[in-house]
Amino acid sequence: MKDRSIAVFCSGQGTNLQAILDAIRRRRLRARVALVVSDNPKAYALVRAHAVKVPAVVIDPRRFPSREAFDRAAARIVEAHKVRLIALAGFMRILSPWFVRRYAGRILNIHPALLPAFPGSHAVRDALRYGVKVTGVTVHFVDEQVDHGPILLQGPVPVRKNDTEESLLKRIHRLEHRLYPQAIQEVLNGRV
Ligand code: GAR
Repeated sequence: MKDRSIAVFCSGQGTNLQAILDAIRRRRLRARVALVVSDNPKAYALVRAHAVKVPAVVIDPRRFPSREAFDRAAARIVEAHKVRLIALAGFMRILSPWFVRRYAGRILNIHPALLPAFPGSHAVRDALRYGVKVTGVTVHFVDEQVDHGPILLQGPVPVRKNDTEESLLKRIHRLEHRLYPQAIQEVLNGRV
């Protein structure tokens, strides 16, 4: 299933990676995770990958003199696995223009807000502090700006009066876990 192979890039918990793996197991997503890449050796996403025998590679940013040097190492690994799509799932590094251009139209990102509102790494906290009544989830193609690019799917999450960052994040995650496999399926089916 080479042309339905994907790489998932993660830096942390990997709950979205798990949602993708679960959707594949339940045959709701016709894809294969060929590779997991992390910039963080402590990412729990690596444990999730090992549990289902998916090759997982840690690339330590401290070993590279520049962002592009890191990205060139990532690209070499991606090439070796011949994936069609790269799904960023909580990958907290900015990709270099070189990498984004090389994989133009083949990199997806999921973000816990309704972009273009609240880009960055504290989207849930920022939305709560701003006082929005509705936030949500965005899946988009990646371009050279952070949390930016053509939007593929979005879904709303209402903010409740007593929400904390934790309670809101929990509901956002629930939606992310449904939307990301769906978005990946649409791209792999060529419907986009
Ligand atoms: C997800 O909520 C994702 O939307 C967010 O990181 C989390 C990773 O969770 N990404 C961003 O904020 C990108 N700017 P996970 O590791 O449990 O999938």
